[in-house]
Amino acid sequence: MIVKGNAMNTFTYKSHSPEETMAVGQALAHFFHPGDVITLEGDLGAGKTHFTKGIAKGLGITRVVNSPTFTIIKEYKGLLPLYHMDAYRLESEEEDLGFEEYFTGEGITVVEWPSKIESILPDEKLVVTITLGEEADTRSIRFTPVGNRYISLCKEFENR
Ligand SMILES: Nc1ncnc2c1ncn2[C@@H]1O[C@H](COP(=O)(O)OP(=O)(O)O)[C@@H](O)[C@H]1O
Ligand SMILES: [Mg+2]
Repeated sequence: MIVKGNAMNTFTYKSHSPEETMAVGQALAHFFHPGDVITLEGDLGAGKTHFTKGIAKGLGITRVVNSPTFTIIKEYKGLLPLYHMDAYRLESEEEDLGFEEYFTGEGITVVEWPSKIESILPDEKLVVTITLGEEADTRSIRFTPVGNRYISLCKEFENR
């Protein structure tokens, strides 16, 4: 994991393999607090689910974490509960699946395809954007913290 350079409160890390993307998520998870919300942006195949698998590992979750595409929300028990959402198949933001209860709960919420539920997401969150690099299997993982809690989280992670 190489730091590519940080500007204006964004923090960018480069990954060269699925394992390295997981390792970033795993390392980040050690700094989570109950109620933290992380949104994952990136095209299909960018590595959002791999990043989430890493978070799960960091939270001590041993169950296999897969994309919850057909269930929208999956819950895992760990050091903190992990709520893994994938809004990809949601037809409209109006579908009320009780999301707020997760955002305000004791666990960590990770949202793939957050644009589908933009209007109900909390204002403050860690926005993670994964983009494909030029070389095969490389990815750029960018953290954009929104709100003081997430700025602290990013700084703690950066200085770990
Ligand atoms: N550096 C990398 N980080 C994450 N995934 C990678 C990387 N290089 C290749 N891949 C591949 O890209 C795919 C990412 O899948 P997945 O994590 O399910 O993406 P998403 O959830 O964003 O659709 C996997 O097939 C994985 O093996
Ligand atoms: Mg996915």
